Amino acid sequence: MLELAIRAAREAGHLLAEKYNQPHQINVKGLRDISTEADLAAEAVALRLIREGCPDACVVSEESNSAWQDCGDSPTWYVDPLDGTTNYARGLPTFSISVAMARRGKVECGAVYDPLLEQLFYAERGQGAYLNDERLHVSARGTLIESLILLDWPRVPALREAAVRLLSRLAPQVDAVRSRGSAALAFCAVAAGWAEAYFQFTLGPWDVAAGALLVEEAGGRVSGLRGQSPIDSIGDQPYVLSQPDWLVTNGLVHEAVLANRPYE
Ligand code: 2AM
Ligand code: CA
Repeated sequence: MLELAIRAAREAGHLLAEKYNQPHQINVKGLRDISTEADLAAEAVALRLIREGCPDACVVSEESNSAWQDCGDSPTWYVDPLDGTTNYARGLPTFSISVAMARRGKVECGAVYDPLLEQLFYAERGQGAYLNDERLHVSARGTLIESLILLDWPRVPALREAAVRLLSRLAPQVDAVRSRGSAALAFCAVAAGWAEAYFQFTLGPWDVAAGALLVEEAGGRVSGLRGQSPIDSIGDQPYVLSQPDWLVTNGLVHEAVLANRPYE
């Protein structure tokens, strides 16, 4: 299943890289929410491979209106064929594809591919997290003043203001702040030890399924951002894929970030 996730991420990623420098057809889905012809083409490649390699796959993919179906015990494949569409459509070179397989909400394996840098991040539960052939570990920086904080911007104005309020408390205390526009790559950056924390108030399960496992397998911590412990979290997995808000850290600065929440 991990090999299948990797193949789907790589082949769809190559297609994204090929189309990157060509003109794009923009389809407006909602406020600050677009897709392009490349999202759809990459999704078609990934889903064909997944259905061939896993005939009983139940697929939850961003562009295919399959979001909230009940997959029962079937292997559930979460696919974001293009994470960072706004960057892609504008020519900003930060985007990825995310593919993960879960059963009953518990992620078993996943891959995130950055086709421009040819960086393949992948993990299998209990087997560690990797970038290409290198084992990944979260950073050992334990204080906010040493921390690089990543965030992305919600589309809804009220949540965007909540992100500003949290950031206005954190920014004076930390080393640096970045917003790069691909949630999956932000999770990978925490897993790789390049950043200490990432937060975003609204994400879909296809954005986070692979990245959450990568962060856990690299020794980091994954939770909601409102500090709640989801009542329907699965076993020892301290999150549910359907939760909208996410905080992933190296573990060491998790409580310090939560302590700066201005809400509740
Ligand atoms: P996308 O490119 O697949 O849409 C930037 O905001 C990051 O957050 C991107 O990875 C984007 O994914 C993701 N994202 C997903 N859902 C979002 C939402 N409701 N609001 C804002 N960003 C969202
Ligand atoms: Ca997407």
